[in-house]
Amino acid sequence: MHHFLKNTIVLAGDICQAEQGGITLKDLEFKTRKDLVTATDKQVETFIVDQIQDRFPDHGIWGEETGKKNAASEYCWIIDPIDGTTSFFHGQPYYAVSIALKKHEQIIAGAVYAPALGQLFHARIHEGAWLNDRPIQVSGTTSLTDSVMATGFACLRSGMEPNNLIHFNRIVPQLRDIRRCGSAAIDLCYVAAGKVDAFWELNLNVYDVAAGVLMVTEAGGEVTDFTGGPGFPENGIVAANPMLADILRTQLTAGSAA
Ligand code: IPD
Ligand code: CA
Ligand code: CA
Repeated sequence: MHHFLKNTIVLAGDICQAEQGGITLKDLEFKTRKDLVTATDKQVETFIVDQIQDRFPDHGIWGEETGKKNAASEYCWIIDPIDGTTSFFHGQPYYAVSIALKKHEQIIAGAVYAPALGQLFHARIHEGAWLNDRPIQVSGTTSLTDSVMATGFACLRSGMEPNNLIHFNRIVPQLRDIRRCGSAAIDLCYVAAGKVDAFWELNLNVYDVAAGVLMVTEAGGEVTDFTGGPGFPENGIVAANPMLADILRTQLTAGSAA
């Protein structure tokens, strides 16, 4: 199945690259004013679902754009056809196809492919994580001052209050720097590869993070909600090496302790 996963995600990414230059306003729909979906999002998800159903007809599917089909099956594929649609629509390279495979309640394999960056991340449970077939691991950074972190603002789309700006304003002045690339899937993979030291965000969905979470844990990192529990992404998500994750969670919960 891992070979199928890698092959399928690369073909899906190739569709994104072929379509990105020709995307216009007529290809754009609005889930909300700030939450975009393009014809390519739907085309890519349909392609991936067709590949899965041809090869594994008894597997379940949970796709961001087409929803759940037999999602309670023993195996279920969790698909975000384009994570970073805003980046994709605006002609930027920071978008990725994200596919995870769940067996019962455990994610056992995942892949995130950023075609415009030439970066294919993949992981298998208990076997490791790779970037372009080279093993990856999280950074060993254990101080805020030495950290470059990533975050996002899904919360602003939903009008959620309080939102991430409170955390952003408290944490970022203590960091070496911050990155907001526009794809939570890439953010998580960059934590796994040690390209950023930690990631946090509010208001993400399972399909945004399913593959990226396995990348981080197979690269020696930990992923929790803001309190250190397993309630991610619903209760926020934190990803880093264990020591830095603990420091970050302290910052994220400092306000609520008051
Ligand atoms: C979005 C990206 C973004 C995150 C948003 C997500 P989408 O995914 O992951 O980084 O901040 O919350 O919705 O909508 O482009 O698939
Ligand atoms: Ca997404
Ligand atoms: Ca998406």
